[in-house]
Amino acid sequence: MPGRLDGKVALITGGGSGIGRATAVLFAAEGARAVVVVDRNGDGAQATATAIADAAPACAVDVSVADVTDTGAPATTVAGTLDTHGGLDVVLTAAGLSVGQTLADTTPAEWEQVFTVNVTGTYLWLRAAIPPMVEQGSGSIITIASQLAINGGRANTAYIASKGAVIAMTRTTALDLARTGVRVNSILPGATETPLLERSFGRLADPERARARSLARHPMGRFGKPEEIAQAALYLASDESSFTTGTEIRVDGGWISG
Ligand SMILES: NC(=O)c1ccc[n+]([C@@H]2O[C@H](COP(=O)([O-])OP(=O)(O)OC[C@H]3O[C@@H](n4cnc5c(N)ncnc54)[C@H](O)[C@@H]3O)[C@@H](O)[C@H]2O)c1
Repeated sequence: MPGRLDGKVALITGGGSGIGRATAVLFAAEGARAVVVVDRNGDGAQATATAIADAAPACAVDVSVADVTDTGAPATTVAGTLDTHGGLDVVLTAAGLSVGQTLADTTPAEWEQVFTVNVTGTYLWLRAAIPPMVEQGSGSIITIASQLAINGGRANTAYIASKGAVIAMTRTTALDLARTGVRVNSILPGATETPLLERSFGRLADPERARARSLARHPMGRFGKPEEIAQAALYLASDESSFTTGTEIRVDGGWISG
């Protein structure tokens, strides 16, 4: 049976855990011929490579252990991908972090750290990927923002503001590239069962209360699974979304503000 990504080459930052890993495995299972897993956590990236080898042995996997804020890494990794695989069709930027503070409690160092990883770490990888995609006349770029950027959330100002910047970057870049064949969209996950979510609850004074409160804001009464976010990424990565650019897909169990 043909896969929805047959023959495509995908690069995923933050591919060593959570949403990035689930997406990497799904892309491989759907026929991608190569997946490049970028993560600063080498063990996590290697575990993703092993999961891909189990799920889709025909898919080539390159592991790139890099910090997304390293200004040299994107050009090197993209050039290596083009050399080895002859193209780059999909880039998904999932590397991200949050520190969890109100604005007044956020130190300048924390603010800068969150913006450097979430915003600059997205910009740098898009900047490296766009020229070869434009040259080949096709490509799908998928950024990972958060539903919190639309509705807000408590005590997480730097993270939420950074995700707002990711959405704005995504929309404006889509406009700039609209006639090139390169599409740019973002996914806004609701709370999703990953190590990041566990860390977010864990640093609060009353993690169980925070978990219950967050659950109550998800009308479906549960958190998402990384594999459910990956399904939206699959649609955006595939040619099925050929008329979709500059937009956001919310995958949030019906999240409402409050
Ligand atoms: N889990 C959620 O509830 C949720 C909700 C909305 C949005 N998101 C977003 O989804 C994305 C993926 O999050 P996740 O929940 O899968 O988290 P995760 O912590 O499970 O995975 C994030 C991965 O990014 C990597 N990473 C972090 N900083 C990096 C850096 N500077 N350089 C290279 N790699 C780096 C980590 O090593 C990790 O492997 C993030 O952008 C996050 O903000 C998550």
